[in-house]
Amino acid sequence: MNNVITPRLAAIIALVREGAGVIDVGSDHAYVPIYLVKEKKAVRALATDVHDGPIDRARENIRVSGLEAAIKTQKADGLCGVDVSGYDSIIIAGMGGILISEILTGAPDLKGKTLILQPMTATAELRQYLIENGYKILNECIAREEEKLYVILEAVRGESERYTEAELLLGRKTKSDPLYPLLKARTEEKLRKRLCGLEKAKEPQRDEMDRIIMILKEMRK
Ligand SMILES: C[S@@+](CC[C@H](N)C(=O)[O-])C[C@H]1O[C@@H](n2cnc3c(N)ncnc32)[C@H](O)[C@@H]1O
Repeated sequence: MNNVITPRLAAIIALVREGAGVIDVGSDHAYVPIYLVKEKKAVRALATDVHDGPIDRARENIRVSGLEAAIKTQKADGLCGVDVSGYDSIIIAGMGGILISEILTGAPDLKGKTLILQPMTATAELRQYLIENGYKILNECIAREEEKLYVILEAVRGESERYTEAELLLGRKTKSDPLYPLLKARTEEKLRKRLCGLEKAKEPQRDEMDRIIMILKEMRK
């Protein structure tokens, strides 16, 4: 099982506190709950998925691991109809940031729960959603698999200060991560390319160009 724990999954696991009860939403293979329970980092887990194929895969992997007593499964759309009592940590990983925010919108009250979120896309939009919807980002880290970078966020219910546009793109808590300079360099490069494209357009969008120039200035500070 250890060899299926990629750097991305390892970074998610590292954010789970010892002795946690964990729900893994969109678990698919269930590698994360299986690892957490096997290594006794989590005392119990619930693996959910909305699709038949993934939930069947999760059930089969849990059965093969002999952990059916400690890891339950449930076919569910996000957290709709999921009883979150008895679990203090909720992982939502490997999905787009917009889908993660939709799952949080449809969730029951998550007061007192720790969210561990790993968006594949739209990380800035997810940060904005969290800040505007009563969540506080406690921690963020970056994982690398070959050329790809992944950001993992830890959030709880609570008040959050506003983020600037550059902070929405890069995060605030990511700054101490050794991969932050690479994340920043790549983000700047994407912004520069977008700016270049806008400058060449027949009808340049001045407002959007000014916005990107401002973000780039802030990132260079
Ligand atoms: C790419 S896999 C990620 C699996 C695992 N969480 C990981 O990070 O490696 C995404 C999974 O999310 C599931 N999924 C997509 N939308 C969902 C939803 N609304 N509720 C629950 N699961 C969902 C998919 O069926 C799929 O199994």
